[in-house]
Amino acid sequence: MSFPRAGALTALLALATLVAGPLAAAEDGATASGEQIATAGNGKGSAPCMSCHGADGSGNAAGGFPVIAGQDAGYMARQLTLIREGKRTSPVMAPIVGSLTDDEIQAVSAYYGAMPKVASSAEPPAEDAAAVALALVQDGDWPGRDLPACNRCHGPGARGVDASFPGLAGQHASYLKSQLEAFRDGTRKTDPGDLMGTVARKLTDDEIAALSGWLAAQPAVRPEAN
Ligand code: HEC
Ligand code: HEC
Repeated sequence: MSFPRAGALTALLALATLVAGPLAAAEDGATASGEQIATAGNGKGSAPCMSCHGADGSGNAAGGFPVIAGQDAGYMARQLTLIREGKRTSPVMAPIVGSLTDDEIQAVSAYYGAMPKVASSAEPPAEDAAAVALALVQDGDWPGRDLPACNRCHGPGARGVDASFPGLAGQHASYLKSQLEAFRDGTRKTDPGDLMGTVARKLTDDEIAALSGWLAAQPAVRPEAN
């Protein structure tokens, strides 16, 4: 596992908090609440989520830790279960979710899912890259490459639709890029019917970079009054 420096630091912080954490966490055998798991771990080996994803769920761009605040709880619970079962590969998350019970997965997903989405602070990419991204997100390349628009599934503004289609707007570019590459290379195959694999295999490296940078700078919350 290779982390950028900020990521390694955050991971160390995670360990430090882990040592201090279980004090506040659940008693033996009890189900820890979402807040306990997020801030102190579940007392059975899971590191506090906030040490990487932040107390406000905003993640960390340099560390590749995704934004999880306001992401659909059902989507997150499914991903956490897939990671726990080894069906989605994540060397970082696997040891953390390993000790979470089904109830704890539901509780911590509900906790972060209910948090307000965070405003993106990412700079949008240069104009030509932004134009490439906007066209793919709104129109796709249909019938040309049989590539449906991202918004067809991920919803208006790519802000997500229920538990099936995660929000992408305001997500960190580093994370978006790594996931698009993982779908393309077949290392993430968690989507029903290979929907995302089919999309990602049609994208060029330049398009993946443009989409990741552009989506990261989009508002995660529907802009008011327009
Ligand atoms: C040591 C850092 C670290 C800790 C602690 C951590 N995560 Fe993660 N999390 C990551 C990374 C990195 C990813 C991205 C997947 C990957 O690249 O392996 C991720 C991915 C996720 C995802 C998938 C997001 C998506 O959009 O598909 C969810 C949900 C999540 N984490 C929730 C949690 C919860 C809940 C906890 C606490 C029980 C937690 N994480 C603790 C680093 C961490
Ligand atoms: C036919 C429907 C469909 C289309 C079109 C589609 N997606 Fe997806 N996408 C999905 C599904 C379903 C998932 C969730 C996969 C899973 O459960 O693991 C997903 C997940 C993702 C993720 C992972 C998000 C996360 O939080 O981990 C990214 C990134 C993504 N899509 C980007 C895109 C982009 C960019 C486009 C347009 C080029 C696009 N998608 C078009 C269905 C679609």
